[in-house]
Amino acid sequence: MQTIIEPFRIKVVEPLQIRTRDEREAIVREAGFNMFLIPAADVLIDLLTDSGTGAMSSLQWAGVMQADESYAGSPSFFHFERVLRELTGFQHILPTHQGRASERILFELLGGAGLVVPSNAHFDTTRANIEHSGAEAVDLPIAEARHPRQQHPFKGNMDVAALQTLIGQVGPEKVPVVMCTVTSNGFGGQPVSLENLRAIRKVCDAFHVPLFLDACRFAENAWFIKQREQGQLHRPVREIVREMFDLADGATISAKKDGLVNTGGVLLVRDEALFQQASNLLILTEGYITYGGLAGRDLEAMAQGFQEVLDEGYLHYRIRSAEYVGEKLLAAGIQIIEPPGGHAIYLDAAAFCPHIPPSQFPGQALVVALYRHAGIRGVEIGSVMFGGGGHPPPDLELVRLAFPRRVYTQSHMDYVIEAIVEVFQQRDKLRGLRITAEPPALRHFTARFEEL
Ligand SMILES: Cc1ncc(COP(=O)(O)O)c(C=O)c1O
Repeated sequence: MQTIIEPFRIKVVEPLQIRTRDEREAIVREAGFNMFLIPAADVLIDLLTDSGTGAMSSLQWAGVMQADESYAGSPSFFHFERVLRELTGFQHILPTHQGRASERILFELLGGAGLVVPSNAHFDTTRANIEHSGAEAVDLPIAEARHPRQQHPFKGNMDVAALQTLIGQVGPEKVPVVMCTVTSNGFGGQPVSLENLRAIRKVCDAFHVPLFLDACRFAENAWFIKQREQGQLHRPVREIVREMFDLADGATISAKKDGLVNTGGVLLVRDEALFQQASNLLILTEGYITYGGLAGRDLEAMAQGFQEVLDEGYLHYRIRSAEYVGEKLLAAGIQIIEPPGGHAIYLDAAAFCPHIPPSQFPGQALVVALYRHAGIRGVEIGSVMFGGGGHPPPDLELVRLAFPRRVYTQSHMDYVIEAIVEVFQQRDKLRGLRITAEPPALRHFTARFEEL
């Protein structure tokens, strides 16, 4: 069949509030033209993030009801541990409240001044935790990743030659760990190939440096490997996932993505001594090792979510949805990061509104227009997010539309496409903005703007 349907039916519905255009105009002004300051109840289609915004299944909710809330040794923890052991092959599994808690523990133990942590592309919280430890976070994407129009089946790959050169230059004793983010959120949700992971592993082995995955979107990455990498089509996703984890010495995971839960995280380590140290820190700052700052019900929901996400019908629908939106936008002449990524579509805002210079925030102008026109909330990833504070303007002015898992249907996506195309047809009317108030750091969350 040509039509890829949502592989679920809906048992509980949540009404959407439809605001009028005049109401949205007042709301966006009241929020200082900042999407983070708009109450979620005033958003029709919320594509701000795919993190923690997914819908849980009936079996996950059943797990929530059955969960055991004992402080130590809860059966819900052992269920979670068993599922993660089977999935990843790791024996040492620590639950945390979300991805960045795993990162904080890892880099408190492995980071430090004078050290360097390379990656294909560090996610912001990973980078921030590395830098907080005093170490330097270095991105080593392949060259293709920096060009929106350039085609590559694995645009999330690491530049392995650059990795080898870097470790050779600084010395392996200065590199406590190499990270690899699957899929690469920083470069558009693009996947990393098995071939690339094997090559990174080889370099790590040669220098005796451990390799950790930032594995938030491990299942989406494995689906791309199955579809795009030579010789992988016949393999079950579960087997590909297992090979990805087998190549690593550890992993940090935000379960808010491919764990299909609203909160939760995981830290996986192979090394016994590191596991003991991580357990001690977990107890100090998160909670006992069998709950890690979560409730038993969260552990049950994760145990179920980490199995459901391997359903290939689900992954097909998931990845095809983003591709579908991307294809329609490209057909309408709208430039996106190509090819479409796993969890989001990134609009090239500089190409969308060439009359707005980076100093007047074309990405912000576009997110404002999408909200105003159709109640859609996206996020600017450009000069608002990365500029200011003396930083140079970023290479790209983007708007990210991230898709929550199992929340919106194809007709919602058709609405989104129609809205973007309509805004594109009137793009010369979009106006740049000026910041009227901003905090000293992370200004995109709270800055206020006015239109020029
Ligand atoms: C690649 C990646 N790593 C880490 C994180 C951090 O996870 P959390 O938000 O659960 O702390 C995210 C969240 O968006 C992410 O996309």
